Amino acid sequence: MVKFFTAGESHGQGLQIIMEGVPAGLPISEDYIGVHLARRQKGYGRGGRMLIEQDRAKIMSGVRHGHTLGSPIGMTLENKDWANWEEAMAVDPLEGPPQSPRTQRITRLRPGHADLPGAMKYGFEDVRNVLERASARETAARVAAGAIAIRLLEEFGIQIHSHVLSIGTVHAEPPETIDWAAVEDSPVRCADPDAAQMMVAEIDATKEAGDTIGGVCEIIAENVPIGLGSHVSWDKKIDGLLSYALMSINAVKAVAIGPGWEIAEMRGSEVQDVILPVSDPDHPWQRNTNNLGGTEGGMTNGMPLVARFAIKPIATMVKPLPSVDLDTGEAVLAHFERSDVCQAPPACVVGEAMVALVLANAFMEKFGGDSIPETKRNFDGYMKTVGPRKVYQ
Ligand SMILES: Cc1cc2nc3c(=O)[nH]c(=O)nc-3n(C[C@H](O)[C@H](O)[C@H](O)COP(=O)(O)O)c2cc1C
Repeated sequence: MVKFFTAGESHGQGLQIIMEGVPAGLPISEDYIGVHLARRQKGYGRGGRMLIEQDRAKIMSGVRHGHTLGSPIGMTLENKDWANWEEAMAVDPLEGPPQSPRTQRITRLRPGHADLPGAMKYGFEDVRNVLERASARETAARVAAGAIAIRLLEEFGIQIHSHVLSIGTVHAEPPETIDWAAVEDSPVRCADPDAAQMMVAEIDATKEAGDTIGGVCEIIAENVPIGLGSHVSWDKKIDGLLSYALMSINAVKAVAIGPGWEIAEMRGSEVQDVILPVSDPDHPWQRNTNNLGGTEGGMTNGMPLVARFAIKPIATMVKPLPSVDLDTGEAVLAHFERSDVCQAPPACVVGEAMVALVLANAFMEKFGGDSIPETKRNFDGYMKTVGPRKVYQ
């Protein structure tokens, strides 16, 4: 199984990642992981922290001379701003009165954040004890693990991309064939340059109003082999696993495989992706449409895997919302802890990581192997069986 754990608070010394189940012999480097971390840090409408973060994952274990060893991979992502948080986030008890204003208790609850339920659940008197871990800073750790999963999938020809479909009420009309290099250059990760301009204007107007804005992201995985996931048990279904993984991203409020809600308005005859007669035995099981987003019965069906998710407008606002104080229950303005205006572009990159991690796990479950050559033998052997039975028996 490809598994990963993350640890670390937003303003602690750093984030830690342990990833298990990656076969031996996969080429990987800090530079490669750094490319994905940098992609998460881009995006129009992001706030000040991105300027100080410059994330770099330090590989501590599981890799030797540029290749994985098959052992757990350990990484750390240092907090470049730690010097300013040493007292507020110290591991040891404080000796004497606090010197830094950052050490002061936070009691002004922020609606839309983990503050209130977290403080009640864990019995905390300082909301910082919740917000530090609940912060989307943790998604940087997911992107580091996801980069290794992406690298693993690349080895088998699987490519993962993402783009923004909408920000607020501005909707993109992406071309049928997306120029992914152009998406990487777009300030809002949008495949429709006209819509991208309007999205930037929308973000500016939202910022001007002291508000925040949400959006919809789409993740596409190409060349995914048929048969990842399974119909046999509810917890093996790939669409369910993808939905859980994407819904777990901070601020995600809806997930869809394929177009999602829209298909409820279509007729059955329009929705199903008709299977075409096999004309090329090397590329069997083609379809003209992909309305079901590449899954049927909880398994990938060989079509591109398409998942969408909606991100809520982020909760921390320059113009704080009315709220209450944790101590007194009386009306106050919510605490302001740095904030971005729109997080849809970076959330796409986090979405890619989560999709890659789910697919990498399903891939290794199906093909197994302790080393890349062994996994490749298993993969190649299976792919030879994928076709009309009378041709391949
Ligand atoms: C990449 C990314 C960046 C985020 N940045 C912020 C932010 O700057 N300010 C904020 O209030 N929420 C931000 N969020 C969302 C919060 O982390 C999230 O809304 C909060 O933890 C509560 O979780 P929930 O919305 O899933 O219930 C961000 C989310 C993502 C995916």
